[in-house]
Amino acid sequence: MLYPLVKISYIVAAALFIFGLKQMGRPKTAVRGNLLGASGMLVAVVMTLILIAQEGVFGQVATFWFIGVGVLFGGAIGAFLAFKVQMTQMPQLVALFNGFGGGASVFVAAAELFSMAGSNKPAMSEDVLLATALSGIIGAVTFWGSLVAFGKLQELSWMKQPFKVPMQHAVNGGLALIVLLLVILMVTNQSVAMHITLYIFIALLASALGVLLTNPIGGADMPVVIALLNSYSGLAAAATGFVIDNNVLIIAGSLVGASGVILTNLMCKAMNRSLFNVLFGVMGEGGSSGGDIDEIYATVRSTSADDVAMILETAQRVVFVPGYGMAVAQAQHAVRNLGKMLEENGATVEYAIHPVAGRMPGHMNVLLAEADVEYEKLVEMDTINPTMETVDVAIVIGANDVVNPVSKTDPQSPIAGMPIIDVDKARTVIVLKRSLSPGFAGIPNPLFAAENTMMLYGDGKDAVLEITNALKEG
Ligand code: TAP
Repeated sequence: MLYPLVKISYIVAAALFIFGLKQMGRPKTAVRGNLLGASGMLVAVVMTLILIAQEGVFGQVATFWFIGVGVLFGGAIGAFLAFKVQMTQMPQLVALFNGFGGGASVFVAAAELFSMAGSNKPAMSEDVLLATALSGIIGAVTFWGSLVAFGKLQELSWMKQPFKVPMQHAVNGGLALIVLLLVILMVTNQSVAMHITLYIFIALLASALGVLLTNPIGGADMPVVIALLNSYSGLAAAATGFVIDNNVLIIAGSLVGASGVILTNLMCKAMNRSLFNVLFGVMGEGGSSGGDIDEIYATVRSTSADDVAMILETAQRVVFVPGYGMAVAQAQHAVRNLGKMLEENGATVEYAIHPVAGRMPGHMNVLLAEADVEYEKLVEMDTINPTMETVDVAIVIGANDVVNPVSKTDPQSPIAGMPIIDVDKARTVIVLKRSLSPGFAGIPNPLFAAENTMMLYGDGKDAVLEITNALKEG
């Protein structure tokens, strides 16, 4: 009786995931979509726990209590992170979550395989052995790749430059080939002891592959890698679903895998990279330092909040271009208030959104939505660019790489080929940032020294508040 009920609840959970995902596609329904997805997961977890309590899975080891302690322990770490982690560290946290998903797949598949030793269970069929090996490979690549991605997003100094591996591609190719041979050996072998030994080697080699594949990637390629690792974590979970014969894991994993692939594709388009380049790890190589900084910044002009307020008073069309610095400064509410004030003054105000601005997909959309900026006012890069020449003032707040024209002029640049928001075409450009420091890609930005650009140095939020006050007083 219990088993059919569990199966039905899994179908309900899967339906909730799918409807949840659909609703997450629109900002207005996104919160409801998130709740639907979370309820689906709650149904799946509770029913699985009931099933385990009733029938016992994995023999003696994973008792209900054992799982309960795991949930409490994991929940405590999750709650601690939720309170402790700054909003600006969310991208790193998401990278870690992807990685832990991959790591969990490696261990769940291993637990199932190890439980075969000395048991009287029927031997694993070839397709289940293949799924086990895939869980080990994709899970280990995801785990280690995500740890490297975490380090890069955290901008750890020792990870800024990738370590050099001689004949990188040959080494990666060789490792992948050995892993493939081990998988064939594992699937065609009859001995459980041999399966376990081969699985351990497969997971170890895949771990090395995860590090080596992610290590050379940086600059403009990071968003693509993050989306790809997200997809991998789903695929690893789906493979594990086949290993432990759990439909809801297969469905949830496939949904994450598929949405990750869609996101990867979007990121590829945003960065102007082909998926082939991403998959075969031939990106992120070379890279110029961007030239002599003193020379590039020789004509930089700075301005004051009062002067910016004066320029804004007569502007008819103003476009804000937010970037990672807006998230650091938590300036979104101040930006919205300034935008409202300019509108009251008769100007048209829009927000130009670059697909990889910030450190995670949709980063700027989320921040501006949190500040109640109407969604219609967020304009995508492709839509706003053809109209940039009619913009009176472009206010770049904490953005750098996504407005760096070097991507069009230097083929050796780490952001070469990446489409940018063409703020340089606006009549006046005001850049709000603390210094002339580079952005994530680590290169200077000639926009700051352009004829129509003025720098307003300072924390993004403080600078916006100062402009707002100056406007009020003026
Ligand atoms: P960045 O190029 O990283 O530039 C951010 C700028 O914000 C910095 O130059 C910094 O200059 C400024 N800043 C920092 N704190 C500030 C504060 N409190 N107030 C004002 N300004 C502040 O940002 P972007 O233009 O958004 O570009 C995103 C970059 O991240 C791209 O290279 C992209 O490839 C990469 N990336 C994106 C993602 C995703 S999925 N979006 C994931 C990984 C990597 P100062 O220090 O001088 O203030």
